[in-house]
Amino acid sequence: MAIFEWDDSISLHIPVIDEQHKELLGWIAALNDAVQKGEGAQVIGDVLLKLISYVCFHFEEEERLLLSSNYPDFVGHRKEHDNFVKRLQDIQEHFHDGEELSRNTLEFMSDWIVLHIRGTDQKYGQLLRAKVGAAGGPD
Ligand SMILES: [Fe+2]
Repeated sequence: MAIFEWDDSISLHIPVIDEQHKELLGWIAALNDAVQKGEGAQVIGDVLLKLISYVCFHFEEEERLLLSSNYPDFVGHRKEHDNFVKRLQDIQEHFHDGEELSRNTLEFMSDWIVLHIRGTDQKYGQLLRAKVGAAGGPD
C-alpha cells in the first residue's frame, strides 16, 4: 500500500470537508517526506504534532456538522474518530520514547483515513447531500 494522495474517488462532494480531507492527507504526505528525507526527531516530531492537531480540528468540525444535521449514527462515528486519535497519541508517545516512524505506521495512518472516508464518512455524505436536495436547490 502507498501513502494515498487525495483524488475525486474519495470526494464527499461537500467542499468544506473535501478541503479538510485534502489537507489531512497532505499532512501525512509531509510526515512521510520528512521521514524519507531522514530529518531529525525535532522536525519529524513537529510535523507529527501538526498532523495530530489537524486531525483533532477536522474531527471536531465534522462532528459539529453531524450534530447540526441530527446524524443518526453520531455516537458510532465519533467513536471511530476517538479511536484513531488514541492510536495517533500512542504513536506519538512511542516516537518520543525514541522509536522510529516506520513505513507501516505511515501506511496505517494513510489507510485508516482513506477507509474511514470511503466507508463511514460516505454515509453522512449521502445523507447530507440528500437533505440539501430535499430542501430544494436554486433551480
Ligand atoms: Fe469522519
